[in-house]
Formats: sequence, C-alpha cells, structure tokens
Amino acid sequence: MTTAHGVCRVRLVPDGPLLVRGASFITDDEGIDHEVDRPVVAVCVCGLTQSAPWCDGTHKAPAIAARARQRTKVAEAEAVGQ
Ligand code: FES
Repeated sequence: MTTAHGVCRVRLVPDGPLLVRGASFITDDEGIDHEVDRPVVAVCVCGLTQSAPWCDGTHKAPAIAARARQRTKVAEAEAVGQ
C-alpha cells in the first residue's frame, strides 16, 4: 500500500496488535479517521483496549493471552484441515 508518506506496512503480531508503519490515518469500525502522528502505531485487534483504536496492552492479560493462543491453534488446525 502506498500513502502520501511512502509505503505503508502492516504486521500482525502473534497474540497482539497490528503494527502499522507509514500510515496517515487509521479508520475505525465506525468509519472515524484517527490521525497518526508517529512512524509506527499499534492497532488493537482484540477489542479490549480502553483507548481504541490503539492497543493499550490489555491483550497481554494472562487469560486473554491464553484465549488468543487457543484461537491461533484452532485457526492453524483448520488451515491444514485437521
Ligand atoms: S491488541 Fe492490544 S489491547 Fe487489543
């Protein structure tokens, strides 16, 4: 993806947020644009953050992390047809 600032790169952190580098805005699920004022931002994908759309680290709570790992295992098993 190319933006006004060059190339935008997105990386999914296992059991964590999306790391977005080079974006000017992040549009949330309600269509609201959030200006990006840093080179890299972490966008919440677990839905539990208190500062949406940004990751606030809540995904690291032990119970939440365990559920995320379980979802990953199920997704991986489904991907290989198990
Ligand atoms: S991904 Fe970090 S709080 Fe949701």
